[in-house]
Amino acid sequence: MLNKKVQKAINDQINAEIWSAYLYLSMSSYFAAEGLNGFANWMRVQWQEELSHAMKFFDYLVERGVQPILKPIAAVPEKWNGPMHVMEETLKHEQHVTSLINNIMDIAIEEKDHATKSMLQWFIDEQVEEEANAQEIIDSLKLFEGKGHGLFMLDKELKTRVFVDETKEE
Ligand code: FEO
Repeated sequence: MLNKKVQKAINDQINAEIWSAYLYLSMSSYFAAEGLNGFANWMRVQWQEELSHAMKFFDYLVERGVQPILKPIAAVPEKWNGPMHVMEETLKHEQHVTSLINNIMDIAIEEKDHATKSMLQWFIDEQVEEEANAQEIIDSLKLFEGKGHGLFMLDKELKTRVFVDETKEE
């Protein structure tokens, strides 16, 4: 039987991951409206990744015989001040998600829930990648101050990103 505190933390995280998906879909929509289709594509892949994260937590609860409880999803922002602003907000958000995951890990450790700790390790590793991905785009934007030919080339590069469901990879 899954510990109640762990259950609640995972349920809350399902909501947080779906909120993240919603946030990135909103960012994708913003970029599309700005004519930055590569950035829009990158955010759309990010949206799919977040849904896969939510489903990894969802499936874990189901596997442990617990019914996931789906709470309302809060509204997300819809306007930003250019690509640098969006990517800085993305990095900030991922740092926040890292703290949420670390918090669930702390609860699992406190409750001596080894199975949950093992499942969470995937997310701990994933967050390192999530933060690095956002940082990498920020670093590129800094090189050309977020505009001109550099922005055009980066947008083109981000258009090539495709969704791979890493939650299903061993
Ligand atoms: Fe689900 Fe972007 O972390």
